Amino acid sequence: MRVVLRTFPSRPCLFALPVLRAPRFHANAIMPFPHTNVPPHMPVFNARTGAGGDSHPDIERVLFSREALYERVNDMAFKISGDYAALGATEITVIAVANGAMVFAADLLRGISLNTRFDTVRASSYYDGTSPVSVPRIHNAGRLELGGRHVLLVDDILDTGNTLALLRDMLEVHRPATLRTCVLLDKKARRVTPYTAEYVGFDVPDVFVVGYGLDFAERYRNLPFIGTLKPERQDISSWD
Ligand code: IMP
Ligand code: MG
Repeated sequence: MRVVLRTFPSRPCLFALPVLRAPRFHANAIMPFPHTNVPPHMPVFNARTGAGGDSHPDIERVLFSREALYERVNDMAFKISGDYAALGATEITVIAVANGAMVFAADLLRGISLNTRFDTVRASSYYDGTSPVSVPRIHNAGRLELGGRHVLLVDDILDTGNTLALLRDMLEVHRPATLRTCVLLDKKARRVTPYTAEYVGFDVPDVFVVGYGLDFAERYRNLPFIGTLKPERQDISSWD
């Protein structure tokens, strides 16, 4: 017996054709390279280690969730890309202040659509406490040549202003074409040395914050959100 297999519908049906839709992106994601369909970068939650969650036992209050940081950092990258393009710049040189700015800079860099050179300077003004020493120290001044370049100095937080004022003076010696500053957080209430950053993610009140690169005694930099530390954890003599 012959089995006749018939396919239905026998004529091509328009409804069965794949629907061609524009790729969907997160509303605040910027698309620096519109010809690609790369999903926006998000901090990873690691279900096996438990890291990357939205809370931590030592955190009193979350001020900026990882989603809020992600959206704001992408907005900043979009603004920076547009502003420098408007200047006629095809390339910028980002100088991040290690260690605190590393997480912020890593996310910011990936949202900038211009060619970007990257270097770090190392500075410290906080040691094992929540009060700054009066004079910040610069440990490593970076190695890229900056003369005639569009330089963007990136730091995690503008607090007393001492560190960035010192760094700005150091960088100006190289005669960059432009020198601007981008900080994720601005704690204006604590300013000692006048300093205005061209790009600010969020204003913060006078509270000590950790996470997303910001530390207390070198801890908590790995938290994907920013929050205040419980008072009992702000005394390192109580630590294991
Ligand atoms: P400034 O010289 O006082 O402006 O110091 C800025 C540096 O101090 C920043 O780059 C941070 O590394 C650190 N800092 C200031 N405030 C905080 C904070 O609330 N948490 C963690 N680090 C902070
Ligand atoms: Mg710092």
